[in-house]
Order: sequence, then C-alpha cells, then structure tokens
Amino acid sequence: MNEHVVGLPDEQATIQLGSRLADVLVEGLVVYLSGDLGAGKTCLVRGMLQGLGHNGPVKSPTYTLVEDYVLGDSLIYHFDLYRLLDPEELELIGIRDYFNGKACCFVEWPERGKGWLPAPDIEIHIRLKNEGREASLTGLSETGAALVASLKRD
Ligand SMILES: Nc1ncnc2c1ncn2[C@@H]1O[C@H](COP(=O)(O)OP(=O)(O)O)[C@@H](O)[C@H]1O
Ligand SMILES: [Mg+2]
Repeated sequence: MNEHVVGLPDEQATIQLGSRLADVLVEGLVVYLSGDLGAGKTCLVRGMLQGLGHNGPVKSPTYTLVEDYVLGDSLIYHFDLYRLLDPEELELIGIRDYFNGKACCFVEWPERGKGWLPAPDIEIHIRLKNEGREASLTGLSETGAALVASLKRD
C-alpha cells in the first residue's frame, strides 16, 4: 500500500514534513491537500516552500485562488479553492495552463474543483490528533507512489 502515516505533534513537525517534501519534489507533481480549516495545509506548503529556499511570507491564496513561486529551477503553484463558488471560475483563470507537467501544483480544497482538476500524484490528508496533527500521504501515480515510498524509507 502506498500510504505513509506521519505523526505531527506540533507546528514545527508540519513544517519539517513540508521540507522533506521539498527534498523529493519532481517536475509536474500534483498534490492534493485535504483536511478541515486550520488542519495545517497551508503550514505544510509553507514548510515545503521554505525548504526550497523561499524566505518571504506564504499567503493563503484564499481570495486569489492561486499564488506562484519561482525557486531555483522549481515553479510552484499553491491553490486554495475554499472560496470557489463555481468550478467554471477555474476555466476562466485558465486552469489547464497551470497543470502543465513542469510546475508543481499544491491544491487545498481540491474537492471544490472536482471534474476540473487533473488527478493527483499524491494526496495528503491532515487530521487533528490530540494536541497535534496526523498526516497520511497516499501515492496515486507511479511517480507519487515512488515519492511516498522514499519518504517512508528515511
Ligand atoms: N502539527 C501541528 N500541531 C499543532 N498545531 C499545528 C500543527 N501544524 C500546524 N499547526 C497550526 O495549525 C494552524 C494551521 O493553519 P493553516 O495551515 O492555515 O491551516 P489550513 O491551511 O489547513 O486551513 C496554524 O495555526 C498552525 O500553527
Ligand atoms: Mg489553508
């Protein structure tokens, strides 16, 4: 089974998981992030961006739908579809151009864009656990499965 469950006792652990993801990122990776409001989805993306060398703030793209980051050779798109009213808005922003096989795309609230987004390589679900969180990572493509397996090994 391509599933990896990671305990995240505090915020630092979420940042750390993001930074481990940064170490194994490959071009064109599509990651869905699910979990309730406040679960830590944006926090995980922040850890990943910092791991790639980003120093500035990481805004939650709740109103803009997407924020982009160019870090070294990597292009990252961070989506938050929480406020998406109609998936057709995705058509209007030219959603297909973002998922171009080069950029890595991290999508919060992917279920709101159902039918308009490509399938993910990895799905990450974050849930509350005691005072902290627990993340489960599932590899859904060959690339995603290999990446989850490599995270599981170290
Ligand atoms: N492993 C963790 N344990 C406890 N608190 C966490 C953990 N990871 C993140 N947090 C906190 O939870 C909140 C998550 O917020 P955010 O990342 O914006 O959530 P989301 O994007 O899922 O709505 C932040 O206040 C952060 O400090
Ligand atoms: Mg968020």
